[in-house]
Amino acid sequence: MNAPELTEDENLGLYQRVTEHGAEWWRVSVADRPENYRLEHGVANGGGPGVVDIDLVVDAENLRAKLKKWRREGFAIDTDKNASEQSAAGRVAFMPELQRAAARAAAAKPRPPAETGETVRIGHVDVPCGAGNPLVPRVNPAYLFSGRFNDIVEDIVENRRVMLIGHTGAGKTSLIEQVAARSHHGVLRSNMNGQTTVGDFVGFWTVKGGETIWVDGVLPTAMREGLWLIVDEIDFAEPSILAALTAVLEPHGRLVLKEKGNEIVTPHPAFRLFATANAVGAMSQFRHLYQGANLMNEAFLDRWRVYLLDYLTPAEEADVLLATLAPHMTRALATTLAAIAADCRAAFAREDLSSAFSTRRLLDWAELMLRTGDPERAAGPAIYAKVSPEDAALIRGIIRHHIAPTADA
Ligand SMILES: Nc1ncnc2c1ncn2[C@@H]1O[C@H](COP(=O)(O)OP(=O)(O)OP(=O)(O)O)[C@@H](O)[C@H]1O
Ligand SMILES: [Mg+2]
Repeated sequence: MNAPELTEDENLGLYQRVTEHGAEWWRVSVADRPENYRLEHGVANGGGPGVVDIDLVVDAENLRAKLKKWRREGFAIDTDKNASEQSAAGRVAFMPELQRAAARAAAAKPRPPAETGETVRIGHVDVPCGAGNPLVPRVNPAYLFSGRFNDIVEDIVENRRVMLIGHTGAGKTSLIEQVAARSHHGVLRSNMNGQTTVGDFVGFWTVKGGETIWVDGVLPTAMREGLWLIVDEIDFAEPSILAALTAVLEPHGRLVLKEKGNEIVTPHPAFRLFATANAVGAMSQFRHLYQGANLMNEAFLDRWRVYLLDYLTPAEEADVLLATLAPHMTRALATTLAAIAADCRAAFAREDLSSAFSTRRLLDWAELMLRTGDPERAAGPAIYAKVSPEDAALIRGIIRHHIAPTADA
């Protein structure tokens, strides 16, 4: 009599071989019946294991015969135990190894040559300075570079295409403008939610003084002159504009002006391309709030680094209020106002409120409040008149919750 020499540990698992149709496999597991084994068979397709096309239960002897046959046919075992031990070890080893690799990558990183050789430190990043240009935005001294922005600034230095998504007034445009302002780069903005045509964007022929001349659109202008181009509300752009953009999404991607006899526009080294959107990707859930926004396909999004920009935290926003409205704003007032903004945003996230509460709105309300000395009166033009009566009532309730009326009010 043959004592069954099979033990679970040794023979259970996945047996695989590569065939011209894909990876063929048998899985051996313990069957419900004692001393019996369940055999499942399939052919992997694409990324998945494929369907189980054979599913049977055999005894130990039968399994031994199968094992012999599979070995002859070129099946190799990948026991679940080995696999799980390997994956547990890999799981633990991954982070230390990644940290070493990242440190080596950081040490080996070549610094892009700056036009003027000068750099300015923004957050943790040294940003090469531009040559200066009338289109350099004004520095906002009250602008707060949150630690979360370091990766974005690094991407700008590396000449990545950066798309910032987030609610209105979260600070998408101002982040790019303030990096440009501090590093002396000129900025062009083109808003896709309106009358921007492919002619405005790429260029067009026109007659001037009896002569037919070509006028560059914003894209070739920015590319030739080394400006930073912000394509605002890209989710509203016409397909023909997106097609022109796709060509320059590679870091050194060139633009072909088909209308101008296929002239090739090569990007100036200082050229940078940005996009902003309210309702793309991770923000798609809010599309109903931004009517008319188009869904962007993933292949297009994959050509960008897409950052979701949330509103500043209440502590950060209080700092911005203090810095923007110095010297009259006080810490106590700023803290309360930032808390009101945070409560309104929470109500918006719960869909109790249908309008977002932007940093822009908060700053404007606070400024008017300092002039009028009356939060309610200031809220009229800064908030209430911009929202529905229901929203205004809810916001008024939130404000009253934080600010008790004076005795004579
Ligand atoms: N980090 C910040 N520090 C100081 N002020 C800020 C900051 N972020 C935003 N703001 C203020 O909020 C205003 C609105 O920001 P910005 O115009 O950049 O928003 P946005 O996300 O581009 O909005 P929209 O989607 O409406 O275009 C800015 O003008 C600025 O005053
Ligand atoms: Mg903007």
